[in-house]
Amino acid sequence: MSTGSLLAVDLVIAVLAAGAWLGGGAASVARRRPLALGLAAVALVATLARAITITALARAGWWFAAEKVLIAAPLSLAAVAVAGPRLLRARGDVRAVALALLFAGYATGSALLVTVLHGYPASAGAGLLAVAGVVAATVISGRALGARPSRPVSRVAVAVAVAALVTGTGLTVAPETAPAVPHDHGFPAATRISAEPTRRFTLTAGTATVNAGGRDVAAWAFNAQVPGPELTATVGDILEVTLRNRDIGRGVTLHWHGYDVPNDQDGVPGVTQAAVRPGQEFVYRFRADQAGTYWYHTHSASDVGVRMGLYGVLVVRPGSVSGLDVTVPVHTLAGRPLPAPTVQRVEAGVPVRLRLINTDSTTHRYALAGTAFLVAAIDGVDLRGPTPLVDTAVLIPAGGRYDLVFTAPATPVSLFVDGRAVYSTGPVSTATGAWPVLDPLGYGATAAVPWPRFDRTFTLVLDRGLDLRGLLPRYAHTVNGAADPDIPPQVVRRGDVVLFTIVNRSQVVHPWHLHGHHVLVLARDGEPAVGSPLWLDSFDVRPGEVWKVAFRADNPGMWANHCHNLAHADAGMTLHLMYS
Ligand code: C2O
Ligand code: CU
Repeated sequence: MSTGSLLAVDLVIAVLAAGAWLGGGAASVARRRPLALGLAAVALVATLARAITITALARAGWWFAAEKVLIAAPLSLAAVAVAGPRLLRARGDVRAVALALLFAGYATGSALLVTVLHGYPASAGAGLLAVAGVVAATVISGRALGARPSRPVSRVAVAVAVAALVTGTGLTVAPETAPAVPHDHGFPAATRISAEPTRRFTLTAGTATVNAGGRDVAAWAFNAQVPGPELTATVGDILEVTLRNRDIGRGVTLHWHGYDVPNDQDGVPGVTQAAVRPGQEFVYRFRADQAGTYWYHTHSASDVGVRMGLYGVLVVRPGSVSGLDVTVPVHTLAGRPLPAPTVQRVEAGVPVRLRLINTDSTTHRYALAGTAFLVAAIDGVDLRGPTPLVDTAVLIPAGGRYDLVFTAPATPVSLFVDGRAVYSTGPVSTATGAWPVLDPLGYGATAAVPWPRFDRTFTLVLDRGLDLRGLLPRYAHTVNGAADPDIPPQVVRRGDVVLFTIVNRSQVVHPWHLHGHHVLVLARDGEPAVGSPLWLDSFDVRPGEVWKVAFRADNPGMWANHCHNLAHADAGMTLHLMYS
């Protein structure tokens, strides 16, 4: 079983155990003897079964099991130790075991809350709060049931609950290391290159009405179109892009997704520049020195901004190209899939490059039917020794790009995105839903990792948790138990080779995206990458997965490092890489 399924199964069992203990307690209060004993038996089995799932998770990685081993396991043992013997002796009135069952319910329930609300890393604060909750709930239930513990016992219980509550709250709420990321001050001095631009563009952001899937929808658009104008250049060009904001109240910027520009051109409001407000403008200038498929999007209010349409394609070609070069930026605008299907007649023998771009916040599945093809590049970087693929689908993460190349056959070819024909050279009726999916970690010709050692290592554990530090408590997407802006920045020195271990212990996919650098994939779930070197800027870390990626810190500045499910980024899953 995959670690992702194991996490889900463990969660279901934990809910079942807590629910059955509490239900059994309630039934025994109501003197429903068979029901109470039945539920208690289910609870006992479920609680013991967690020994198996927790052990398996701990073997998959301590990150997945830390709080379960340190907090849930002791509380579960206490539940079994208190409720088990009393159940065996439950002869006469079933109400006599009610408090024991309720205690077991509170113990397993609060352990569950620790996993759901706090997660990784397990902390003394969370453990103490859990204990406080169990003791308090048990004392209150005991009073309500008319149990008469001796005075000292109840005094001790109350004292334990209060002490645990106070200490636990203090430990949980007190700030740890002060974050050193500038927010809205101290932007890098613009080192904009002085060379004369060879390609000039102007993008004006504004509200607009555009057509999506045959219907007019309200959008935020560059130059009144979604996607915005396609920006093209040739390697060596100096691009100058003037961004104007007509009426986007949330502000706009341009972020060159996957393009490793100098830091002051990166377009992250509050970090590399101020957001461009209505009536203002900002001029970006950088050299096009990487060929490939990229895209641009606003990074101001990026979740809503990109979703509403503030994005476009950036293609940098190595020189003159022969054949057909088609960009397919996929997006969901107001619930309608873009682009509208295109049918284009293509002569047999013409070389075709399809540049697939996923500008949404979730993964899309692409299937090219009717021809063998190569995956020539991923995230703008050419693969080494790609081999022909037939009847194979590819999954492109949020923000990611795949270039597929083929020679047009005499018969039609069709590209399906999530089953919908988006680009074709004629009618193709092939069911692609059951095709196997390409694993890029095993595709193409391998090469040695270019570094003998790593100067710095960082681990990012992705999860969900209650974030109490802001003004309003929120259920955040967290990294190492913290949410933006409280995640400590990762500090590197220029020239360092940096290793990231990225662990997803949540129940959802996190498409990871580091600005300013491409990372080389080393391994996933302990299995080394054996295909072509994969230099990615966007990659899906699925539930239960552990990715190891590395890069050379060769682009100084303050860089965003975040989940490209932009709603997650907005809900806390953003941190920064900073050069000392
Ligand atoms: Cu395409 Cu920081 O994002
Ligand atoms: Cu995410």
